Parts: sequence; C-alpha cells; structure tokens
Amino acid sequence: MKILVTSALPYANGEIHLGHLAGAYLPADIYVRYHRLKGNDIIYICGSDEHGVPITIAADKQKVSPQVIVDKYHNSIKESFEKFGCSFDNYSRTSLPLHHKTAQDFFTRIYDKGFIYPKTISQFFCHACNMFLADRYVTGTCPHCENDKARGDQCEKCGRWLEPFNLIEPKCKTCGAQPEELKTTHYFFKLSQFQDTLKKWIGEKTNWKDNVKKFCQGWFAQGLEDRAITRDLTWGVKVPLKEAQNKVLYVWFDAPIGYISSTKEWAEKKGKPDLWKDYWLDSKTKLVHFIGKDNIVFHAMVWPAMLFAHGDYILPSEIPANEFLNLEGRKLSTSENWAVWLPEYLKEFEPDPLRYALAVNLPENRDIDFAWRDFLARNNNELADVLGNFINRVATFINKNYNGNIPENHKFTESDNEVLIKIEDTTKKVGELIEPFQIKDAIRELMTLPNLGNRYFDYQAPWQSFKTDRNKCDTTINVCARVIASLSVILEPFLPFTADKIKKLIQIQSKAWDEAQNPKFGKTLGPVSILFPKIEEKVINTQIDKLGKKTTTETEPKKEAVPTTSVVKIEDVKKEKQMEITFDDFKKIELKTAKILNAERVAATDKLIRMDIDLGTEKRQIVAGIGMAYAPETLIGRNIVVVANLQKAKIRGVESNGMLLAAVDGADISLVILDKDIKTGSSVS
Ligand code: 2FM
Ligand code: ZN
Repeated sequence: MKILVTSALPYANGEIHLGHLAGAYLPADIYVRYHRLKGNDIIYICGSDEHGVPITIAADKQKVSPQVIVDKYHNSIKESFEKFGCSFDNYSRTSLPLHHKTAQDFFTRIYDKGFIYPKTISQFFCHACNMFLADRYVTGTCPHCENDKARGDQCEKCGRWLEPFNLIEPKCKTCGAQPEELKTTHYFFKLSQFQDTLKKWIGEKTNWKDNVKKFCQGWFAQGLEDRAITRDLTWGVKVPLKEAQNKVLYVWFDAPIGYISSTKEWAEKKGKPDLWKDYWLDSKTKLVHFIGKDNIVFHAMVWPAMLFAHGDYILPSEIPANEFLNLEGRKLSTSENWAVWLPEYLKEFEPDPLRYALAVNLPENRDIDFAWRDFLARNNNELADVLGNFINRVATFINKNYNGNIPENHKFTESDNEVLIKIEDTTKKVGELIEPFQIKDAIRELMTLPNLGNRYFDYQAPWQSFKTDRNKCDTTINVCARVIASLSVILEPFLPFTADKIKKLIQIQSKAWDEAQNPKFGKTLGPVSILFPKIEEKVINTQIDKLGKKTTTETEPKKEAVPTTSVVKIEDVKKEKQMEITFDDFKKIELKTAKILNAERVAATDKLIRMDIDLGTEKRQIVAGIGMAYAPETLIGRNIVVVANLQKAKIRGVESNGMLLAAVDGADISLVILDKDIKTGSSVS
C-alpha cells in the first residue's frame, strides 16, 4: 500500500507557532516516521501557501511586494520545520511556476467539463485604493455579535461566516474609506452539484473523527452553495482565460492543488518526473490530510468536490483534523502575540521536549491548553526523571562496573521475562495506537516502558547482585539494555533527536519498528550524553512574560494592548498556586466586598460591562469582560468581591479602578458572590 501524507500548507505571512504544530504538523510527522519504520511506501508532502489576502495585506502594510513577504517567511518556516524535525519528503511553495501551471490545468480541466461558470455579482470597490475589495479587505461590525472588527469573510469572535455586505458600517481595511458596491464578474465552482456525491462519500467514512463528520453534516443541512473561485487581485495564480486577464484564482482553490504540485516537484527532484502519478493516480494510495479544525470545510468538502469534478485523482482517505491549542488559558492570538513562535522557542530549547509536551497533550478530541509550567514539569519529571534517568543509570552502571561492555544474559527469571514481554507489548500497542491517529495515547503508552525499566532496576538492585550474584546482575543489565535498544527505535517518531543519541549509545543494529520487539544492539556502549537537561523555573517565567508583548516575528503592527477581560481567571489563580506565593504575598492583595450600583454595556462591545460599585468607604467605576455571561440589568444590587488595590487601567478607553472576581471556564463565567449579607467593603481573606 502507498500512503501520501500532507500537512496543511502554512501561509507564508508569519512564523509557525505551537498551535500550528499541535494541529497539523507534529501528529503528521509522528505518523509518517512510524510508517517509514514499518517499511511502508509513504511520502510526506507540504509547502508554503504563498497566495491569499493575508499575504497581500501584510505586504501593503510593510510597503513591500508580496514576493518579499513570502520569500522571507517561506525560508524561515522551512528552516524552523527542519530544526523541529519535521521530516517532509518535499517542502514546496505555491509561487513556483510548476504550481501555477498545475493549478491552471486543474481549473481548465473542470472549466472544460462545465463545473465552472461566470457570474456578475456586486462587490465592494474602494475608490481611494482603486480596487475591488476581496472579503478580507473589508471590515466592519458583525451583525450577529456586534464585534466591530469582523472581517468580510468571517467574524473571528463568534466564528460565523459572513459576506462583506452583511457587515454593519463596512470599511476598506487598507485605508478606512467607505467602499461602494459595484458590479464585477467572477467564476463560480458548482459545489452545489456535489452535495449528494459528497454526502454519500462522507457517509461511508465510518471511521472518520466526529468533529469532521459533524461539521460536514452541518454544511449539508444548510445546503452547499456554488462558490466564487476567482478574485480581483494581481497576486496569485492567473485565471487561465482570455476574458479574465486581471483575475487570480481564490487561494483556497489553488492551495490544495499545492499538494499535487509539491508531489510533482518531489518526483522531479528524484529524477523521476512521473513518479508523482504512482501516488495521485493510483486508487490504492491512501491520501491522508493532517489539518487543524479551521480547515475542515475546505479539505472535507470543497477539495474533494474539486477532485470529483476533475476525475483523475484519488480522494482523501483520512482527514485527521485536530482541535485548537490554547495557551496559558487563553485562545491563541497572533495579532496580540499571545502565541509561542517556533523560531523563538528553538533559540532557547531543544526540539524534543516540545515535541513531547505537545504529543502527550494533543488537542485530538477537544481544545487543549498549553502551559509553560506543564512543559517544565513534562521535561523535568517525565523526560528527565523517568526516561533520561533510566537510560543514564543503566549506562553509568555499565561504564562503571563493566567497563562499557554490555553483559550477555544468563537464564531469565520471571521478572526478567515480564520486562521482555513488556517490550514486545509496548512496541505493538504503540503502533496500533499511531495507526488510527491516537498519537496522544501512543506516547503515553510508550512512556510506561521506561517507567517499568526504572522499577525493574530498583527491584533487581544490580549494585548488590554485582557483588553477590554476578549472573543475575549480568542478566538484569542485559534486559535493561534491551529496553534501551527498543526505546531507541520506538521513540524515533516522537523524539527523533533523542532517539538518535540513544541509538549511538546502544550501537543499535535494528532499524525497523517490528525489530524493536527483540532488538539487536552492540556489545559496547557508545558515548553517553545528558538527554534532557532540567529546565529552571526562571527560564519558564521569561517565556510567560513574553506573552502578549511585541516581538520581531509579528507581521502586523501591534494594536493598543486591550485586556479582553478584567476578570481574575481561575487558570491564573491556579498558576499562582503552582508558583507558591507566601502569605505575605497574598496579604498584598486587598480583596473587598462591594455592591453593584449600576451596570451598562460599554458602547460597541458585547463583552465589556461598566459598573459603578460601592466599596463602603467610596464609590468606584470598574469594567469587566462578563457581558457574554450576564445582562447588565441582572447585575445591579449584587454583592461581589473585588481586588481593590489593583492599578487603574483603561479598557477600550474606559477607566477601570478595580477588578471583580469570577470563575472562568472557557466562555462560561460565574461571578464570585457572597453567601449572605455582610457590610459592603468588608475585607475578604
Ligand atoms: O489555514 C491555512 O494556514 C492555509 N494556508 C491552509 C492551506 S491547506 C491546503 F489546502 F493547502
Ligand atoms: Zn481603501
């Protein structure tokens, strides 16, 4: 069987961050590395997505051509991926002529087959900028949630898809002018014609993840509509029609075709230019698209419909879409720099601890939080204290007592056999979990092996048997060496850099996954290295401090820092707890009871509520981000708890002098209110 694996092509308008890695790249890389070890015919294809409005917007802002932007980010993304160990067989880019031709041929083919038609539509035109405005070039207020920064294609706050004309008070994103509705002709793909075919096709995918299937069912219920696949832009793949000289293909039309053109490039580089056909034209190839959930509609509906329309190519067999990764209790936000950027991470740390911390906590079935303290604990308590410690103590023992020679075993006892069986079992189970994309369970299962290794070493106490029963000691150490050898193979998909070091240490001879059940290795030890240096708390604190502050990796000018809420988050409280503050620290926070006298929504926001509160000795104004959970009028008269000695802050231009306490669980917010009446202004401790 042939397997063709892809990860979503990242936009070349910014660096890779942890959210990307946890969504589409790390799980794919683990999956691919595993299959290579299994000896399967697998290729891993990716590349930069270099078209699209986010790129032209970044170029406009920096007053450079889009090519400058994509060159910069393509090279830097490629380099970070390499350093992180993403083992693509080819990493291409969609600005290549090969891609343009492949995308144009694709268009022409389905145009000739009658699946594309022109239609004149109204579109916003900005007279100041002298251009038709693609959806993302229009901003305004969302008609559903009143977010005043909604984009013409989608509101990032409520997640709803929009048309630019739905926006209240639409503006040109570039210059702020009010655009005018004018007529233009675009080309539409007949997606509606594929509803039944897609429904049947997806209906047969009984093993697909729920998130993907549910998403598609939602779309079918709404009814699929034809989609405009051209744009009035100069940057992109030119529409291959004489009558559409100034139009380009919509980025989401050309990007997935990038999977094909990148495979073509791979074949060319191998000197066998037709080799790509062995994958894309063979119905026995398993095509696996790793994506984040924001890309489901394109990969599970639009792209398969394009492939059905084209007719020659295979369809996706699997679309393992991951949920989102949050960061320190908050949604990732690149514009607010609430993100951990891969190049920044790699300046400070090795790639494997991050691969581990992400793999062991992947957002496979729900959104997951990444916290720097968790990263530290995973490195120090699991990688260093369990895995690193096991390998290190065995290696040290061999060097000290056996002069670096790995002893042969004698007769195995029941406890030795238990470990040998565990090696076999773990190898099998980990593989059986990776195959259906249960990567998180796979790495957790794997870690039970070094865990057992440590217990076995303790229990066998070779430092005693070395003096009293040399045969027993030889066998114990030999069994430990087998564990290490097996680990060096099965760790490779997850921690490739560490696996390499362990392979050198144990002089591994077995290369294939299945051989890890009973691995062959050298007679002497290779160089011993510290596998996982411990990370200090202060290093982590520096990383936490960076969040939300401007860095050089940002592509957009930093907006005025606006706290989205002035609520004390339960996650923040937890974090503090892990930091163990002293009672004196705690006493610095002046908590007081207060009564809400008046409450109203802050103009043009749906989240912020301005309140007048009575603190017993004084009256104050505070602003809190609780508007999604409470209607202002229901707040009046409530007795709440506030942090009274917090520095004043301005939130959306409104002064907030204090902060109320509330428990926060995602979008769910519950005020901390008092159990019984007590004098307003009483201290809370
Ligand atoms: O969401 C994104 O980052 C897109 N650039 C993904 C494209 S995936 C594929 F279709 F190329
Ligand atoms: Zn304009």
